[in-house]
Amino acid sequence: WPALAADVAAIQALKRERNAVVLAHNYQAPEIFHTVADIVGDSLALAREAARTDADVIVLAGVHFMAETAKILNPGKTVLIPDPAAGCSLADSITAADVRDLRRRHPGVPVVTYVNTSAAVKAESDLCCTSGNAKAVVESLGAKRVLMIPDEYLAQNVQAELPGIEILTWAGHCEVHERFTAEDIREARQAYPGVTVLAHPECPPAVVAEADFSGSTAAMQDYVETRRPAQVVMITECAMADNLALRNPDVAFVKPCNLCPHMKRISLAKIRRSLETLTHEVTVPDDLIAPARRAVERMLAVRP
Ligand code: 13P
Ligand code: SF4
Repeated sequence: WPALAADVAAIQALKRERNAVVLAHNYQAPEIFHTVADIVGDSLALAREAARTDADVIVLAGVHFMAETAKILNPGKTVLIPDPAAGCSLADSITAADVRDLRRRHPGVPVVTYVNTSAAVKAESDLCCTSGNAKAVVESLGAKRVLMIPDEYLAQNVQAELPGIEILTWAGHCEVHERFTAEDIREARQAYPGVTVLAHPECPPAVVAEADFSGSTAAMQDYVETRRPAQVVMITECAMADNLALRNPDVAFVKPCNLCPHMKRISLAKIRRSLETLTHEVTVPDDLIAPARRAVERMLAVRP
């Protein structure tokens, strides 16, 4: 604890000195989430806040695509990621050339791209979405057919809610959420009778079908804090329940959960080092900024 407290104090001082903000995703560990983070939230909230901040330096306590999105929205600011190896299996599942190939095979079909992708992939897309606005984004197009990439399960889960639209997709998966099964939920219900089950929409459709509610990390938080279930299982990354448990001591959080190895690369010590040395700076090639930014800003203009 003394080492963590020293890191927290140093980070607070460095933030003032550098005019920096720390944006932290909901999957960050409690010692980051509840101490040095200025803004916490789901991918959508972090993108919105990145667009709004007047800080000179943004430290993204999250994964690389989130830092890239912040840079796309703030090309003139310094955007840092404490560990550049914090990637994402979804972002790694598709390239810009793949998107161009999909467009050739499906001419005229609009491309909605999950924010969990590289700037190069975003730049080939019509607009982006997050798990918090995916349905609203697809509906906003008014199209009969939509390409929704690269998360196959998110696309299938949105398809279940929008039967009038044909959604084509890609075989990308989140390595954390694809591991949950419907059997996990049945076992949890048996072990904890009456438990409320919340699942992230990156889970396979069979898992979402067994849950009481499915939504982005922010939507799951909102469910817990407004409905106040007595006992909850969060079918998502483990930090979600850890962070909510500290804010909601009257709610019991039970297993299972899975860890994201990429999110867990970020630590207080690395955030401190990032601010001390202004590394690792995230850059996006000039020719990608404008088209990627168009796709992200079109998303931000859609109100769920
Ligand atoms: P949201 O926080 O937008 O629900 O996304 C979850 C996620 O996978 C981030 O890595
Ligand atoms: Fe990517 Fe899944 Fe980790 Fe989110 S939880 S960063 S989608 S691998």
